[in-house]
Amino acid sequence: MKVKLLVGAITTALVLGIVYANTGETTLHNGIDEPADEKTFISAAISSAVAIVIHSQAATAPAPYRRDAHAKAHGCVKATFSVPELNNPILKQGLFSEAKEYQAWLRFSNGFDKPQNDNVKDARGMAIKVMGVAGKKLLKAEQDEMTQDFVMLNNPTFFLPNVKEYTEFIQYQAQGSQFGYFFNNFNWNIFKWHFKDLFLGMKILKKPPKSVLNEQYHSLTAYRLGSDNFIKYSAKSCDSNTLLPIDDSQNNFLRAEMIKQLAQGDACFDFMVQIQNPEKNMPIEDTRVLWKTSDSPFITVARINIAQQNFDNEEQNAFCENLSFTPWHTVAELEPVGGLNRLRKFVYTEISRFRHSKNKVARHEPKGWCLHLNGKECPAP
Ligand code: HEM
Repeated sequence: MKVKLLVGAITTALVLGIVYANTGETTLHNGIDEPADEKTFISAAISSAVAIVIHSQAATAPAPYRRDAHAKAHGCVKATFSVPELNNPILKQGLFSEAKEYQAWLRFSNGFDKPQNDNVKDARGMAIKVMGVAGKKLLKAEQDEMTQDFVMLNNPTFFLPNVKEYTEFIQYQAQGSQFGYFFNNFNWNIFKWHFKDLFLGMKILKKPPKSVLNEQYHSLTAYRLGSDNFIKYSAKSCDSNTLLPIDDSQNNFLRAEMIKQLAQGDACFDFMVQIQNPEKNMPIEDTRVLWKTSDSPFITVARINIAQQNFDNEEQNAFCENLSFTPWHTVAELEPVGGLNRLRKFVYTEISRFRHSKNKVARHEPKGWCLHLNGKECPAP
């Protein structure tokens, strides 16, 4: 009996020790550091993402080929993105350099690769496409486009640290194994299990918010702010956004709630940046580490206003499905940095090209709120 207790205690201590070692804070340097072998993972990550798109389409046919992630939209809404005159010269980069009001599209989504009931725990996405933004863009094939995208989730940290681990993770997902990555293909060597990533992954999968218009979204990854600074960004709903009672047990209640809210009035978000303090633990290359607001608070740099509207119609929903967001729709002053962003440069473009070609629809960047119906050119906003 005593021996059994002893073995039990040692095992528990061992497991707790490993869990602690896996979940403790990592301290890294705060610069950009591209591993020499990073590029070797890109094609495997793309193939796995394509495989996921193909599996999801087969499971939902005759639905179109959808995004590899964030397949279910709650809707695309018209918004304005207003930059005030910013007094701090550090902030005056890219579209933040002058006071201006832009037209924008916002797409709200669930994170999964297939549409599912909004009540299932998931990450929720908010993607912003600001239009009429001057300056050469970073994707060579789209360098003359006038769009600046911001792509966010409703959690401040990601659950995987880098490109190598992401690629391993998505390869398991493409094979239909939800947990293979975390438990090292269910190998008994628990030293190779990814407890910290599992723990953070579970945190990202949240119960639905009451409304996607009453939530805070984060970039998770870092971006340049000019040549001297790095930022993460976030959009936080205004306290004045009104919630209306709705039956939240229904499948698509997040869309229904947004329809109801925007039928009766406006909603807004503050768009904010958090500047990296190089003296603090605010790494770029490990997206699992929270940039604490006590180390650097968020600063508001724009106001997003969503005027009262009806967005839920066939044309607009089709337009929404065919939009392509990527953090690389940007000027160099706001360049995405860190391994996962470097990977996203290729994966987002390839998945967007793949689904558009399979669905036989043209890819184009919108110029304004006009819907580009039947390939018709839209006037400049
Ligand atoms: C770590 C921070 C990340 C955030 C905040 C994020 C967020 C999002 C959001 C909100 C969307 C939906 C965009 C829309 O509404 O159309 C999206 C789509 C997508 N994400 Fe991510 N994501 C992240 C990381 C990644 C990574 C590491 C990959 C893979 C390398 C990835 C691959 C994709 C792809 C392929 C799409 C679909 C793109 C398209 O077909 O237009 N994401 N992501």
